[in-house]
Amino acid sequence: MQKLIVKGKKILSGTVKISGSKNATLPILAASILSEKKIEINNVPLVKDVMTMSELLKHIGSGIKVNLKKKKFIINNKKRKFKTVAPYSLLKTMRAGVIVLGPLLSKFGKAKVSLPGGCAIGSRPVDIHLFGLKKLGARIKIKNGYIFAEAKKGLVGAKITLPSISVGATENVIIAASYAKGTTYINNCACEPEIKNLTDFLKKMGVKIFWMNKRKIKIIGNQNLKPVNHTMMFDRIEAGTFIIAGALAGRRLKITGIESKILKKELTVLKKMGINLKIRKNEVTVFHSNKIKSISINTEPYPGFPTDLQAQIMVLMIKANGVSKIRENIFENRFMHVPELNRMGAKIKIKGNLSVIDGPQELNGAEVMATDLRASVSLVLAGLIGKNRTSINRVYHLDRGYECLEKKLKKCRANISRLNY
Ligand code: UD1
Repeated sequence: MQKLIVKGKKILSGTVKISGSKNATLPILAASILSEKKIEINNVPLVKDVMTMSELLKHIGSGIKVNLKKKKFIINNKKRKFKTVAPYSLLKTMRAGVIVLGPLLSKFGKAKVSLPGGCAIGSRPVDIHLFGLKKLGARIKIKNGYIFAEAKKGLVGAKITLPSISVGATENVIIAASYAKGTTYINNCACEPEIKNLTDFLKKMGVKIFWMNKRKIKIIGNQNLKPVNHTMMFDRIEAGTFIIAGALAGRRLKITGIESKILKKELTVLKKMGINLKIRKNEVTVFHSNKIKSISINTEPYPGFPTDLQAQIMVLMIKANGVSKIRENIFENRFMHVPELNRMGAKIKIKGNLSVIDGPQELNGAEVMATDLRASVSLVLAGLIGKNRTSINRVYHLDRGYECLEKKLKKCRANISRLNY
């Protein structure tokens, strides 16, 4: 087991280059199943979830090759024999594995995919994924913890209105429809930038995809795909995390490798909190702010404030003057960092899906426990501003989604290290 030790109260300065997006890479890797032509993917973040997805693809039969040094994945599926079975052992740690269901079914007419394991932040069912795939003609049964899906004559384009907005379901259905016969319309789809990155990738492969409006996509399936070379977009959650780190502990912290227009909502919230920012097209510099103001936010699907930054902004709210509020609208159980932050001296109360943060409070280092990916990083942020030493247990959550977090923080002068125990 490993833990992170953060000695707080160090002033951060320097430059942080943001890595490629984990949440954009996962569906693009899944979409590679559709093609037998060469696929090159650059700027891949080398995080645990991406490696698990690459293991899953290898297990299924994909000709995926990983160049760690160049952060490049090359996939060549020509003449490969695929298995169409995604086992529990590879889906239990990473729910996004279920995105291989759509492409396996579309390409091979059948798939057996484990239901993803339980998840700390909420029940996270897959009914919307299955709803969309059924509309494309799939016959689906659930038995012994597995989804058995079949479409003997292949999937066929359809008009689909998703019952509620889901990132993963939108991705699964887009990928499946890309290889289906005919035209698909998906209404009420998610429109996260990672989904735009996926549709850009599929367009380069030769699929005709049109965003008709913010929540409607038209896809004309194509089974004669082209080779593709694609560069992953930046990780907007990593970017937001470092901007918040700069707001908490920075003197002058520059965050590069981003597209600031994608972070519009987050930057607006930070400006309203009085954070001193210089915003350029591809970088943001965060300066020390004398007074941080309280604010109320709701987490929402894009372009709203992301649930994946909720835990991090809560730490900034602890330093804000006055009462801040967060309403978590996406997941039912995503305040698990709150008791840990309170153990460090925060005053946060939870009422259902609302948390009320009374600031400003001084934080004291403590022994804390990470419970999920974003909760873990919020504890690192708290450690950066806490007195003395904070040790964060169960770091494997962090490694699922942050590339070289300690290395990047150390480069900006944080005192952080990893211990084996
Ligand atoms: C993705 C992101 C995750 C982010 C989340 C919301 C990836 C790999 N993960 O997760 O980091 O926190 O979007 O922005 O991109 N739901 C159902 N039935 C379904 C599917 C979802 O009820 O079939 C519910 C979920 O329980 C949740 C809500 O819909 O309450 C949104 O979930 P969804 O957008 O699907 O999240 P993920 O794709 O799992």
